Amino acid sequence: MSAVDRQPAGARGPAPDLEIDEQGFALVDGRLVPLSEARVSVAAHGLNYGTGCFEGIRAYWQEDHQELYLLKLIEHYQRFARSASLLHISLGATPEELADATRRLLETSQIRQDVYVRPLAVKASRSIKVGLRPLEGLVAVYTTSLGDYMPLSGLALQVSSWRRIPDNAIPSRAKTTGSYVNAALALDQAKQDGYDDAILLDQAGHVAEASAANLFMVRRGTLVTPPVTSDILEGITRQLVLELAAEMGIPCLEREVDRTELYMADELFLTGTGVQVASVASVDGRAVKDGTVGPITARLQDRFFLAARGLDPDHRAWLTPVYGTSAKG
Ligand SMILES: Cc1ncc(COP(=O)(O)O)c(C=O)c1O
Repeated sequence: MSAVDRQPAGARGPAPDLEIDEQGFALVDGRLVPLSEARVSVAAHGLNYGTGCFEGIRAYWQEDHQELYLLKLIEHYQRFARSASLLHISLGATPEELADATRRLLETSQIRQDVYVRPLAVKASRSIKVGLRPLEGLVAVYTTSLGDYMPLSGLALQVSSWRRIPDNAIPSRAKTTGSYVNAALALDQAKQDGYDDAILLDQAGHVAEASAANLFMVRRGTLVTPPVTSDILEGITRQLVLELAAEMGIPCLEREVDRTELYMADELFLTGTGVQVASVASVDGRAVKDGTVGPITARLQDRFFLAARGLDPDHRAWLTPVYGTSAKG
């Protein structure tokens, strides 16, 4: 059975472009409120100038364990803290405290299906003055059910004419809200042109990443991914896949990637909390080999979903169980 078939029906939840339903709860500055009441002013600095940062975290429901597993929860909150510090937003809690509050939010909401968690920190002060200090931050965490962000195979990508914003303009390693204008422009163009997603090049013309995912290719048996100095988000799934590959004895290289290497790759795939591990069939209309899921991609997809769904005892440490605390399986 392939990794794609292994995904239970629950994983094929709502599409990412559906409006988020406001029935659940959110944490706002540590208080539990109905999501429909979690609001900021239209004059909020973050809404006007994009001065905010966020995370995307998935939790996978495991029916056999009656457990909901948050994947790499602490790592996401550590990155959240780094992004917030760049913007001088005080989170008012440590990554560990935010992780625990998130676990309790899911428990209180009695969520028993795959879910996406969105921590968000924005400059909430009503202020016309551009700048970062002194402005008050607001920290919120809400959840939404979410199926596959993109199909797990067969993706058709376009190398975008939009370039990835460089580190000394808006740093990609911080997950700032404003920087997603760059991703949105590239994805919008790709969709208009009939593709599933965009690949953005950095200012030097090297491959950076997709609109909301990191990119890997396989060339002559080696797994290659652009380095963290190529204006990428330092993806948590990227790191997880590098660890999996190392354990599986697959040689890995973090190095600059040229555009034409994409056309000559043996395999190509995207990684991210949203996209998970998704195989790419073509770039700019040029098929990656025969366009099917390559053998290394298939093995990594498989290991990824086993770990994420709590079926891999060796990687239980990557998961935070929402309900139970006992070791299962
Ligand atoms: C621009 C960008 N790159 C890469 C990623 C993948 O990061 P992660 O694996 O931490 O979700 C994301 C995911 O949100 C993203 O938005």
